[in-house]
Amino acid sequence: MEVLIRENTEIGCLLGAKIIARVVREKPDAVLGLATGRTPLRLYQELIRLHRDEGLDFSRVTTFNLDEYVGLPATHDQSYRWFMRENFFRHINIDQKRTHVPDGTAKDLHAECRGYEQRIADAGGIDIQLLGLGRNGHIGFNEPTGSLRSRTWIKILSEQTLRDNSAVFGSFDSMPKHAITMGIGTILDARRCLLLAFGPAKVRAVEHMVEGPLSAICPGSALQLHPRATVILDENAAAGLRYADHYRWIDQHKLDWQKHR
Ligand code: GLP
Repeated sequence: MEVLIRENTEIGCLLGAKIIARVVREKPDAVLGLATGRTPLRLYQELIRLHRDEGLDFSRVTTFNLDEYVGLPATHDQSYRWFMRENFFRHINIDQKRTHVPDGTAKDLHAECRGYEQRIADAGGIDIQLLGLGRNGHIGFNEPTGSLRSRTWIKILSEQTLRDNSAVFGSFDSMPKHAITMGIGTILDARRCLLLAFGPAKVRAVEHMVEGPLSAICPGSALQLHPRATVILDENAAAGLRYADHYRWIDQHKLDWQKHR
């Protein structure tokens, strides 16, 4: 796992955007795995800027989002489909037909899960998967103790996750309690993973994900198994890491081809 500690969210997000932009420049028909939440917002803004000011071309790019709430239609302003359209897709030249978000309103949710896996496989797999981290260590909506080999499935959200996300819903009771999410096995199949975590609320989850034992109690720790996982943190989120100085040392002594320029 490559751990990159940056001064603040702004610098971390600009670096994340740079990494994704490079993937798109090197492979114009790249398949991007995308995430929602507050964490990647600034990263999306920077990708939009790169599209507008530097011609970053998304016309041949395909995207697959990690997850969606069960029962929320694309027209609901808290659905992840809505989030992606408002915060990213409508500002770039992506072909909407190439953007995929699980359908939380599908009549047969199991068929939707199987179909989502098939669509990812048909697209040739995901080149880079962007991830955030829940306060309880979840990735996508894979809550603690879920199978580390899971494929796209339906998950019951934990009380903590619901509370963390409830502000935007107005009330806890009106929130969907279930979600469709790529499984941890699905995420680990991506050729590359890029996880962002910022702020003091993530400190324990980051500690467990990076330095704790590989355990379903912290789904993010599954990234320890990934051959090419990059984690970008700000100083606050990195505050609990025992080996922070080691990660900084590694970062400073990279060979030219290893640097994220
Ligand atoms: C949500 C999403 C995750 C996201 C995480 C963190 O529940 N399902 O994909 O990474 O929680 O959210 P935030 O970035 O807002 O802290």
